[in-house]
Amino acid sequence: MSLPITKAIVPAAGLGTRLMPATKSQPKEMLPVGRKPAVQFVVEELQAAQLRQILLITGRRKRTIEDHFDPEPEMIAALEQAGNEIVLEDLAFLAKGASRFFYTRQSSPKGLGHAIALGKEFVGDDHCVVALGDSLIAAADPAAPLRAMMQAHLDLGAAAMIAVEQVPPEEAFRYGIVSIDGFEPSPGQPVAITDIVEKPPPGTAPTNLAIAARYVFSPAIFAALDRTAPDRKGEIQLTDAINVLVRMGEPVYAWLLHPDERRYDVGNFESYFRTFIDFALADERYGYLVRKYIREKAYEL
Ligand code: UTP
Repeated sequence: MSLPITKAIVPAAGLGTRLMPATKSQPKEMLPVGRKPAVQFVVEELQAAQLRQILLITGRRKRTIEDHFDPEPEMIAALEQAGNEIVLEDLAFLAKGASRFFYTRQSSPKGLGHAIALGKEFVGDDHCVVALGDSLIAAADPAAPLRAMMQAHLDLGAAAMIAVEQVPPEEAFRYGIVSIDGFEPSPGQPVAITDIVEKPPPGTAPTNLAIAARYVFSPAIFAALDRTAPDRKGEIQLTDAINVLVRMGEPVYAWLLHPDERRYDVGNFESYFRTFIDFALADERYGYLVRKYIREKAYEL
């Protein structure tokens, strides 16, 4: 039996140019989504999936991420003394035993694959999860997809288990799109990937299955990253490394998210606004106020 997976890498070193000027001096991963910064949702999901060692890949102008995950025992003690249970609950991700945080800086953002390669020593001979710091999962239990993916990955002896979601064909050009072996998968039924095309030109996408920001990898991903050539911009892309993995004959699978498990990202303003609105509407404390406001506002539009 394989040992459980306990390590996760959260790449958060990208420039966030599509969100300028909001990201001029702060990381996009720290933009608020309702009451919490985006990356806090990612970390809470990883903790709920029992990933106890979390490596955040940060970089220039990303220091607030490290500050956010700093336990600050004095502040917690003061909140405990004041009996401020509500705030303490929202800071539970800092609790002792919830997880340990590690940091590596990607001095220049040379691509997502390059960022993940910096986690090689942290991961060692283990399997690991990669969760993009700007992408959130909304579901009754946001950690359910990762838990199931890790189980399937270990059961199948996979080199990679990659979350995918169905996107409208006219949107496929925005995403990494997978080609698969056989029929369209059902949620929870892994299917072998034969190729990935990054942002296919309109009308050329092989499927409507888009990579959805959550991955489980065996250590073979680092060998594949080592063999991956930089693209035209000089960046090492994760999708290219996954294609290398496939060409190496390693078993790489797609894991289709269930229709009620949705991936959101804060990478551009349109998706950031949608993410903020949907998470604010679903907020257990303030959601009813947001719903009331939006209903009133809808009359004016
Ligand atoms: P994106 O490609 O959406 O991020 O990466 P970006 O480069 O910040 O975006 P733009 O194009 O400049 O607006 C998805 C995730 O991968 C991380 C990002 O921080 C984000 O969480 N990433 C990307 C890195 O850690 N390093 C990189 O070199 C690129």
